[in-house]
Amino acid sequence: MTRLNFEILHWYEINKRNLPWRNTKNPYFVWLSEIILQQTRVDQGLPYYEKFIAQYPTIFDLAKASEKNILKDWQGLGYYSRARNLHYTAKKIVQSYHGIFPSTFDEILLLKGIGRYTAAAIASFCFDEQIAVLDGNVYRLLSRIFDIDLPVNVSKNQVEFEKIANEFLDKTNPGNFNQAMMEFGALQCKPVSPNCSSCPLRIYCLSYKNETVAFRPVKLKKQKIRKRFFIYWVLEKDGNVLLRRRLENDIWKMLYEFPSSEFPNQKEQENFVSRFLQFPQKTFKHILSHQHITATFIAIEDVSGFSFPDSDWIASESISDFPMHRLMTRYLEQRNH
Ligand code: ADE
Repeated sequence: MTRLNFEILHWYEINKRNLPWRNTKNPYFVWLSEIILQQTRVDQGLPYYEKFIAQYPTIFDLAKASEKNILKDWQGLGYYSRARNLHYTAKKIVQSYHGIFPSTFDEILLLKGIGRYTAAAIASFCFDEQIAVLDGNVYRLLSRIFDIDLPVNVSKNQVEFEKIANEFLDKTNPGNFNQAMMEFGALQCKPVSPNCSSCPLRIYCLSYKNETVAFRPVKLKKQKIRKRFFIYWVLEKDGNVLLRRRLENDIWKMLYEFPSSEFPNQKEQENFVSRFLQFPQKTFKHILSHQHITATFIAIEDVSGFSFPDSDWIASESISDFPMHRLMTRYLEQRNH
């Protein structure tokens, strides 16, 4: 054991919270706790954990319960697919494994609703497998101790972090050490204003030495995807079709398209579309680098009553003379088939 490992374990013995799932090696209980805690704070998840182990004390009880009851007991926690996957996997373990929870990381990882973090947690906490867990707390702690500038939210870097974490892992008691790492990250090496002056790792911590603590972990800024919802009006009369040029500062500036309407969300777009079900319509999902567009083209047969002041009638057969964006040509291509 290194001095660093020792300091973390020592800190953990003094500072750890007494949480019920830490006093058990029952993989069913640990699995339940980790699923509950996935998108939920400890203080919020605790009463649900207590309720579930009281209501469903064994995996057999969970497997034979109705989905309706499980969802009712889950009510208030959100992300209900977690509860559905719990039920599915409980039934699977009863049916295919005689109710005995698989005991290795590789086998646990095959179960529905269980990713690398949860598989490593169960394998190390319950079966002493020498495998490191990596949650947000551990990524931050490793980034700071070793002053790692690899972005933690880039999936290919996960391999590198797993290597570092597994080398760092204390092999004599991997489960306890994993818990200690997470707890140290959660309580001591906090995301903002960590209390370095009281930190037992300060003298070993490379980012403290290099004064980069505030910049670790590195996270790559991901451009947010904007979702947009359009209706395109395909209005034809006497061999002519209505077309407009996009002049505003937006995507596809200066390109031609059918007159369009934009809606703030999917619901409003669908409500509007539903008023035109008697007309031929076709919906496209169109992906741009930073925008995901849902566009419904509606071909109106009787165009009286429609007016688009910034549009012009052009002869339908000359439509290909006008420069158009890819969503328009996708529609025209499928229409000509
Ligand atoms: N959050 C997720 N898993 C946890 C655990 N095992 N202990 C404390 N907090 C957690």
